[in-house]
Amino acid sequence: MTILGIESSCDECAAAVVLDGRRVVSSVVATQLERHAEFDGVVPEIASRLHTEWIEDVVARSLGDAGVSMAGVDGLAVTSRPGLAGSLLVGVSFAKALAWSTGKPFVGVNHVLAHLYAPLLSEDVAYPFIGLMVSGGHTLICRADGFDDITVLGTTIDDAIGEAFDKVAKHYGFGYPGGSAIDALARSGDPRACRFPSTNLYKGEHRYDVSYSGIKTAAIRQLDQFWNPAYERNDRNLAAAFEKAAVDMLVSRLLRAIEDTGIKTVVAGGGVAANTYLRARLAAKPDLRVIFPPLSLCGDNAAMVAGIGYHMLARGDRDGLELNASPRVAGFKRSA
Ligand code: KG4
Ligand code: ZN
Repeated sequence: MTILGIESSCDECAAAVVLDGRRVVSSVVATQLERHAEFDGVVPEIASRLHTEWIEDVVARSLGDAGVSMAGVDGLAVTSRPGLAGSLLVGVSFAKALAWSTGKPFVGVNHVLAHLYAPLLSEDVAYPFIGLMVSGGHTLICRADGFDDITVLGTTIDDAIGEAFDKVAKHYGFGYPGGSAIDALARSGDPRACRFPSTNLYKGEHRYDVSYSGIKTAAIRQLDQFWNPAYERNDRNLAAAFEKAAVDMLVSRLLRAIEDTGIKTVVAGGGVAANTYLRARLAAKPDLRVIFPPLSLCGDNAAMVAGIGYHMLARGDRDGLELNASPRVAGFKRSA
């Protein structure tokens, strides 16, 4: 089946053509990055307006790159939740209109599940696995028993991990987006320069949860307290120390989940899955199979949407023209 995927949940306007949930025939991502950079964050009103201007061309380019017309497309998949309401609505409305005018079936896709599907476009991975979905809006450690059957083990009790990277980078003017700016600086910094307090939510129901407000505040307001005076106080050292503290917290909870469940396969997704230190830390665990998406599929893209959409359409899922965008989603199942 040839599926056209459409993604517009945040600031990337994307369309892709994917064959049978596996072969990415084309993937176009038009990023609005530069248009939001001067505000150090995504401005929802600008994002939705640009999606409106760009989406027709982005979809046409993805079909053109794939060498197919709508007649050769078997179904459409579009991110319908969660995300920025105005941005989501552009993709959803466009997909509905295209599906209606061509008579093709379509489904609305959950963006979080789509991120976790991204690595599966290129790898065969058997369920169950431990999913690690880390982005600007989400931090999730889960057990995945199917492409749309996940049980949340742990999450953040405050900021998402990418959000913490973004806020620290914004405060110090490291660049935008903050996660990749900190990643780049950290490569030539020394994480020993600053020892951030480790947040321990160890007990009971928080066994796999993380919290980023503590290290974020420490990095922004309490550096004097935590800086090791033997090290030069510069951006590179701060970036390295913050990155290590943020990623180590995540990895400690992930390893706990792996140990408790006995599941040794990890599938990572989301923008923060591009992080160099996170990748290196997990690659250093020889007893685990850790699958990261290629860098081009870590951030928002439509290939992951078409990929998961294939499985939904293949089993008969269909949405109607009443499909609406939902900025939030009802919570996933939590483990008992
Ligand atoms: O998945 P994504 O593109 O959009 C959301 O759904 O949020 O993720 C964007 C997030 C941002 O917070 C960005 O700073 C972070 O991913 N990010 C990174 C890196 N590249 C992007 N964080 C850490 N290291 C990176 N290399
Ligand atoms: Zn995303």
